[in-house]
Amino acid sequence: MAEEAKKLAGYAAVDNHVQNNQVVGVGSGSTIVYAVDRLAERVRQEKLNIVCVPTSFQARQLILQHGLTLSDLDRHPELDVAIDGADEVDAALTLIKGGGNKSGEGYQNISEALKVPKNTVASIILKWKKFGTTKTLPRAGRPAKLSHRGRWALIREVTKNPMGPVVTDNSNFILDWKFEHAHNWKEVNTAIKMIPGVVETGLFVGMAERVYFGMEDGSVGVR
Ligand code: 5RP
Repeated sequence: MAEEAKKLAGYAAVDNHVQNNQVVGVGSGSTIVYAVDRLAERVRQEKLNIVCVPTSFQARQLILQHGLTLSDLDRHPELDVAIDGADEVDAALTLIKGGGNKSGEGYQNISEALKVPKNTVASIILKWKKFGTTKTLPRAGRPAKLSHRGRWALIREVTKNPMGPVVTDNSNFILDWKFEHAHNWKEVNTAIKMIPGVVETGLFVGMAERVYFGMEDGSVGVR
């Protein structure tokens, strides 16, 4: 069901927002795979002229594998539309992202997120600059030396090798930070970004314009 929901959402995003002669931002994760499938299908069938800008190595590979036109932000600094998946979304369309490579642990499908009341458990991803020496390198699955309001973040680990931390395309670590209640996410985001070493968070506040949800009955919800 989760796969079907992702497919419905990915297809709906492409069908409702992609038009001819657009520059399209392509996100990462498993839902985006369906969106790119649909994009490639429409480009072929409708002979659309579309340029794709990837957010990651995975997105770049997807674009190339589907024979779509690959570009980057240097050549196309302005996107007409950007499509991406999310782990959770609230009523204000705040997105929690970055959980895609957690291999299912703590995963919550976007189609289920709407049913969760405000007291949801949210993972927040912190990309931590890689520090120089092995002494300061945090160990996967252990609390990192990073705390905010008395909470600790955990270094995300590679599932097949518990000793190895996940390292991003840009050689950063990812930390998962669980919150047990809804917060003012804008304030939380600003506070986290001010912590030395933090490069980015997975909180997207005020960025999403439309969110599609694949529903259990096969329909598509939209916010
Ligand atoms: C990648 C992301 C993903 O889009 C998000 O985690 C959703 O992943 P999936 O589509 O696999 O459920 O933020 O950085």
